[in-house]
Amino acid sequence: MSAKPYYITTAIDYTNAPPHIGHAYEKVLADVMARFQRLNGREVYFLTGVDQHGQKVQKSAEKVGQTPQDFVDGITQHFVSLWDKLNVRYDGWAATTDPTHKRVVQAMLQKLHDCGQLYKQAYTGFYSLRQEQFLTDKERGPDGNFGEEWGEVQELQEENWYFRLSDHVEWLKGYIQSHPDFIYPPHRANDVLNALEGTPQDLCISRPIERLSWGIPLPFDERFVNYVWFDALTNYISFAGYLAEECGNTGLPDFSKLWPSEAHVIGKDILVPAHAVYWPIMLHALGFGDDQIPRLIVHGWWNVKGAKMSKSLGNVIDPNVLAGTFTPDGLRYYLMRDIATGYDSDFSDERIIMSYNKELAGGLGNLLNRSINMAQKYRAGVLTPGDYDDDVNRALRDTVAEAVPAYMEAMNGWAIHEGIAAAWKIVSAANAYVDNTKPFSLAKDPEQAARLDSVLYHLAEAWVHISVLLNPILPTAMGVARAQIGWELPQGFQISDLKWGLLASGHQLGTPVPLFPRLEIEAE
Ligand code: ME8
Ligand code: MG
Repeated sequence: MSAKPYYITTAIDYTNAPPHIGHAYEKVLADVMARFQRLNGREVYFLTGVDQHGQKVQKSAEKVGQTPQDFVDGITQHFVSLWDKLNVRYDGWAATTDPTHKRVVQAMLQKLHDCGQLYKQAYTGFYSLRQEQFLTDKERGPDGNFGEEWGEVQELQEENWYFRLSDHVEWLKGYIQSHPDFIYPPHRANDVLNALEGTPQDLCISRPIERLSWGIPLPFDERFVNYVWFDALTNYISFAGYLAEECGNTGLPDFSKLWPSEAHVIGKDILVPAHAVYWPIMLHALGFGDDQIPRLIVHGWWNVKGAKMSKSLGNVIDPNVLAGTFTPDGLRYYLMRDIATGYDSDFSDERIIMSYNKELAGGLGNLLNRSINMAQKYRAGVLTPGDYDDDVNRALRDTVAEAVPAYMEAMNGWAIHEGIAAAWKIVSAANAYVDNTKPFSLAKDPEQAARLDSVLYHLAEAWVHISVLLNPILPTAMGVARAQIGWELPQGFQISDLKWGLLASGHQLGTPVPLFPRLEIEAE
């Protein structure tokens, strides 16, 4: 057991629109890992939050005639209530308009300024008034002109502050090559190395306040606000207690105990350049050592019928609606079982209905219901293991014993869908065990009483295991299942404490209630 807490973070979500299933997936993925690590005996610190500054937010607020702060407060509420609904249980909340965070961003900028990492320079370029951005040759059409989508384009000179990113590119290449664990899945490291080919450029980290006022002012030049990515990335350290003392921040974790984070959970679109280039270089420039660079866990994307979700396509999937139909656990389950971490998946009505009705209702829920029902009917819910044993019983115990290490390996390696599959071997084996042993026939034959006792006991013991292994994914349902088994997770219980025989002879089971009642719905 490590003394260091498992520090896990997610990307902080832009508050320019309410959350969609992509956001829900990422938070549930991190929550499942956090819950798994807690059950694995680790102290966990889980940080998530919202990215509230920047041009997109300023524009969205203007459009609806609100102040940016009122606007982000409103959108933030959608995120907070969704995490609450989905039982995403975080320890720290990173909102970038929090004064705690602003102070750290400014202190960090001052530090970089003081050690010569920032410089001011004039830039002349073509600027799109409509899109409010400088254009490069990439934006020119085949005829060499900027297309109509850019509206009026003016040649403009603008002063800005730059970060000496290029000074650190060689270091970063070396770091990536010598740290194969830096990025998961490892093949993504090639995308980063490819992006680092060519002449390295410095990074513009300011925006003049005439263009963008909704940001954190540079402490050494108040005519500028900080570029939103610089501000946003800093959340991982500002809310973990970095520079807390000199910024007068209180109530935060002890940074030296927490850092580096073992897992920054992010989507593939924000790996290059933000998380794999800017972020490690920012840390390096601030004096963080090679052993102080956090690990990146890069997940894939949920698409809809092969297309990217977008407001304009009208195919944005609302996790609130899905949680309403399939229950929060039903949505968590689908989001974890139907994607391989690091790869993309396609959202499908058929698949979520199938996963709920066939797997949760038909497989898992039915197993619990019949296990407890039969024990109640034949033995008033009282378990008596007795000394009867046979090969069928031994096979079930073997399946249970083999499932635990397979589950551990998969979960530790971020293969949540394989962790579920490992636990599900117990579910399937136990359902087949009921079909084979036919307790309803055994109950009719007094000579089979000892065998029936052993069958009912085996099912309950299998359920103790299932209720622990699936707990990170289905926290509510597994709590309900344990109440029906009449067994609570003891304080400080770890997966390594799982063993056969946790239920004593004479154990009283609870009342059966369907875990996942079947839904009468069809895909549209
Ligand atoms: O990128 N499937 O915010 P964001 C899976 N504020 N994941 C998805 C997804 C999809 N369809 N769409 C988005 C930002 N995501 C920044 C992050 S971190 C310092 C700042 C993921 O709201 C996306 O990959 O656009 C990212 O990890 C997260 O949702 C937030 O996306
Ligand atoms: Mg995005």
